[in-house]
Amino acid sequence: MEIANERLIGVVLGNGWVGRYCPWPRGTGVDAAGLATLKSRLRRIWAAGDYDRLARYLEAASEDFFRRLFVPRGSRLLDVACGSGQLALIASRNGIIATGIDIAENQVERARERARVERLGAQFRVADAEALPFADASFDFVTSIVGAMFAPRPEVVAAELLRVCRPGGTIAMANWTRQGFIGKMLGVVSSFVAPSGMPAPVLWGDEATVRERLGPGVSSLQLTRHKVEFNFPFPPREVVRFFRDYYGPTNRAFASLNRDGRKSLQAELEALWSKHNVARGGLTDVEAEWLEVIAVTRRD
Ligand SMILES: C[S@@+](CC[C@H](N)C(=O)[O-])C[C@H]1O[C@@H](n2cnc3c(N)ncnc32)[C@H](O)[C@@H]1O
Repeated sequence: MEIANERLIGVVLGNGWVGRYCPWPRGTGVDAAGLATLKSRLRRIWAAGDYDRLARYLEAASEDFFRRLFVPRGSRLLDVACGSGQLALIASRNGIIATGIDIAENQVERARERARVERLGAQFRVADAEALPFADASFDFVTSIVGAMFAPRPEVVAAELLRVCRPGGTIAMANWTRQGFIGKMLGVVSSFVAPSGMPAPVLWGDEATVRERLGPGVSSLQLTRHKVEFNFPFPPREVVRFFRDYYGPTNRAFASLNRDGRKSLQAELEALWSKHNVARGGLTDVEAEWLEVIAVTRRD
């Protein structure tokens, strides 16, 4: 399976197929060589830019997410697709035995560095959400903030989250919704790149889809849409540049376009940020939305 660069960006943004089921035949999927190529390109996209810069603007929302989980001190928590360590570091500061995994090596290195600086015990390693390198039932809490939603095979991700969480443990995710601001932003970016034909990540922000994916393995499932504020101390035009510089998928999408394409994408994104901006005076305050998923795994 050979996937062109812009097609792969489509994979990340999920601009093609919008149904609920992965179009690849269950159990077989793409062939092993094709999947390896796909994964290494996904890794390169997420390694582009510097996601850590953007993550800092979501720190308060991540702390709120963590607080709502009431994780007892001493619990074992795995954060899947941890980026530069945001949630695992918050957990570690609160007395949790935290582990984070991410597909992008530079993100994992950044997370380790942040833990070192703060002298926290959180552990980080490079791994794929679709093949978690842990034994069954290894964790009390398995979390993912706008991370695991970007893996290309959601059924495999769901099975892995359920597998490594102990019976009666908690799986918690925060997933951008299609209707919320980031869903709209990803929609604009994806309209500039070729369709991928793979499941849209924002389907993890759809209640019915999450029920189908996790429902059979859990005894309770709470689904709540939460508002998430982005507050930037600069105007929409600069926010778009910020995403272009630091957010891997946007960075690579711009890089795949010619001069006119880049100008059009910049203009459309600026218009979107400006339309949703409630701040004045050169600031940008936009409200986004994610679906919080809190699932308790079955005991039997
Ligand atoms: C939007 S960032 C969120 C990072 C982090 N959860 C946070 O809240 O700061 C998405 C992250 O998902 C990671 N990712 C994407 N696909 C992945 C996969 N299949 N397995 C592990 N990590 C993945 C990317 O490398 C990236 O760090």
